[in-house]
Amino acid sequence: MKAIRYHQVGGPEVLRWEDAPEPVPGPGQVLVRVHAAGVNFADTERRRGLYDAQAPLPRILGSEAAGVVREVGPGVDASWVGRRVVALTKQAYAEAALAPVGELLVLPPEVSFEEAAALLVQGLTAYHVVHTVGRVEAGQTVLIHAAAGGVGLLAVQLAKAAGARVIGTVSGEAKAKLARDVGADAIIRYDQEDVAASVRELTQGRGVERVLDSVGASTWQASLDALAPFGHLVSYGNASGHPPHVEVELLYAKSLTVGAYWLHTPTPPEVQRKAREALLAEVVAKRLRIVVGLTLPLSRAEEAHRQLEGRNTVGKVVLLGAD
Ligand SMILES: NC(=O)c1ccc[n+]([C@@H]2O[C@H](COP(=O)([O-])OP(=O)(O)OC[C@H]3O[C@@H](n4cnc5c(N)ncnc54)[C@H](OP(=O)(O)O)[C@@H]3O)[C@@H](O)[C@H]2O)c1
Repeated sequence: MKAIRYHQVGGPEVLRWEDAPEPVPGPGQVLVRVHAAGVNFADTERRRGLYDAQAPLPRILGSEAAGVVREVGPGVDASWVGRRVVALTKQAYAEAALAPVGELLVLPPEVSFEEAAALLVQGLTAYHVVHTVGRVEAGQTVLIHAAAGGVGLLAVQLAKAAGARVIGTVSGEAKAKLARDVGADAIIRYDQEDVAASVRELTQGRGVERVLDSVGASTWQASLDALAPFGHLVSYGNASGHPPHVEVELLYAKSLTVGAYWLHTPTPPEVQRKAREALLAEVVAKRLRIVVGLTLPLSRAEEAHRQLEGRNTVGKVVLLGAD
C-alpha cells in the first residue's frame, strides 16, 4: 500500500508518500480501507520529535481513520466487512489501517467520512475538557482559547449546549467570524488584545469560571489572570510551547484550581462510550456542527501539516484516501 512515512524527525518536508507493507489484522483486529484520516496538532509535534519521540522510525502518523472494513482478523465476525466505521488507531495516514474491533464506531449514513474523522481525537477531547474535567455548568462563563480550531469549535458548541456563556480567543477576523457562527458569545483577538483585560471588561470585572487552554506558553498567565475567584483552568495542549511550572502559591489569592486532560488517560469504558455516543447523536441531530476546514489527498500530508502549524486552518483538517 501507499502511506505517508517519515524516516527522521523534522519539518513538514520529512513526510514522504511511499510504499509501505500493508498491515495484516491480528486477533480482535480489523483492517480499514482509509477514506478519511484525521490530522491533529499532535501529529505535527510527533513529526517534530517533541512528543512520543521514542517511536521507532520509519513511522506512519495518524490517530484516527474513517473508512470501510476490508478484512477481519482471527476471532472477528466476518459481518464487519463492508461496514462504514471510524476508530482511534495508529498509522492512519495510509491507504489501510488496523483497528481493534472493540474500538469501532459504526457510522450512520448521515455522517460523512470527513466529519467522522473529527469525532474521536478532537470530539472526545472537546467533550472531556468541557464536561469531565471542566465540569462546565449553565450560568458559567467559559474562556476557550484557539476557539476556531478543531477542538475549539467543538468545545464552543458543547459549552454553549451546557448553558454556559462562551468567550473565544482567536487570531484573525475569519476565525473570529467562524467561532461566532458556531455560538461564541464574544471573541477576543488574542493576537491584538490583552486577554485578561478584555475578559474583565466582558465580565464586569469578575472574570470567568472556566478557562480551556490548549495554547500553553503564550496564554498561560492571561488564563490565570482571567479566572474569577474559585475558577478552574483546564490545560490540554501546548501549541505555543509548554506553560511554566504551576506555582501553587500563586493560586491561593483566588483559590484557583488547575486541571489537565489527556486523551490517552485510561478512561472508564462506560464514560468513553457515553461520550462517543453523545457526540455521534449530536452530529446526527445536526446540533453539533463539524467544520471541515481543509481536505487534501493523503499524498499531500506535508501541505496539511504546513497549514496547521502555520495557524492557517480552521476546524478539522482531513486527508482523503482514494474512493
Ligand atoms: N490533551 C489531549 O489529549 C489533546 C487531544 C487533542 C488535541 N489536543 C491539543 O489541543 C490543541 C488543538 O488541537 P487541534 O488539533 O484542534 O488543532 P487546532 O486548534 O486546529 O490548531 C492549533 C491552533 O492553535 C492556535 N495557536 C496558538 N498559538 C499557536 C502557535 N504558536 N502555533 C500554532 N498554533 C497556535 C492556532 O489558532 P489561532 O490562530 O486562533 O491562535 C491554531 O490554529 C493542540 O494544542 C493539541 O495538541 C490535546
